[in-house]
Amino acid sequence: METKNVSVLIGSLRKESFNRKMAMNLVSLAPKSMNLEILEIGHLPMYNQDLDENPPEAWREFRQRLNRFDGVIFVTPEYNRSVPGVLKNAIDIGSRPYGKSVWDGKPAAVMSVSPGATGGFGANHHLRQSLVFLNMPVMQQPEAYIGHASDLFGDQGAITKDSTRQLAINFVEAFDAWTNRFLRAEPELKPKQALGKTKDLGTRDNTIQ
Ligand SMILES: Cc1cc2nc3c(=O)[nH]c(=O)nc-3n(C[C@H](O)[C@H](O)[C@H](O)COP(=O)(O)O)c2cc1C
Repeated sequence: METKNVSVLIGSLRKESFNRKMAMNLVSLAPKSMNLEILEIGHLPMYNQDLDENPPEAWREFRQRLNRFDGVIFVTPEYNRSVPGVLKNAIDIGSRPYGKSVWDGKPAAVMSVSPGATGGFGANHHLRQSLVFLNMPVMQQPEAYIGHASDLFGDQGAITKDSTRQLAINFVEAFDAWTNRFLRAEPELKPKQALGKTKDLGTRDNTIQ
C-alpha cells in the first residue's frame, strides 16, 4: 500500500510546548506506511465570515495543504477545560466556505497532553464534539490523555518514560490501521454528510426539537 500522508495539528504555540514535543515524537515513531507532517497554525488570521469571499492567502494555503492529506492527528493542551483558541481557529478556517470543508470525511485522532493529572481529558472530548459535526471519523482506541507531561520528556524532547513511549507507538500504529479502513473503503462505505443541510444557517441541524 502507498504511504499515507497525515497532518499533525498542535494546539499550542509555546516554544517549549509539551504538546509539540509529543507531536515530534509521534512523527518519529510513526510506521513507515504513514508519513506525519506538522502543519503550523499559529500564523492564521482569526476567522471572520466577512472574509469568506476574498480570504487571506494564509487561509487559502492552509486549506489547500490540508486537502492533500489523508488524515489528521490533533495534539492539544487543555485550556480552561476546552481547546485552545488557536486550534479552534484553524478548525473553523478549514470548515469554510460552507460546503467546502477540508475536514469532511478525513479520518482523525486526538491526543491531549497536560502537566495536570487528568491529561487534558476535557479538551480531548470537547474537540471530539466539533469533529462529529465536521464528519470526521475519529479513532476511539487507544484513548490518549497524557498527564504529568513535565515528567515525560528528556532534554532533546524525546519521551523518556517507557509506558508513554509505548502508548505513543500504539497510538500511531492504530491510526495507521484506522486510516486504512477509510482509504480502502468503497465510495458507498465512506462517511457521508448527514441529512438535513440547512442552507440559510450554513449548518446541519439534526437535532430533534
Ligand atoms: C489559558 C490557560 C488555561 C489552562 N487551562 C488548563 C486546563 O483547563 N486544564 C489543564 O490541565 N491545564 C490547563 N492549563 C495548563 C496547560 O495544560 C499547560 O500550560 C500546558 O503546558 C500547555 O500545553 P503546552 O505545554 O503544550 O503549551 C492552562 C494553561 C493556560 C495558559
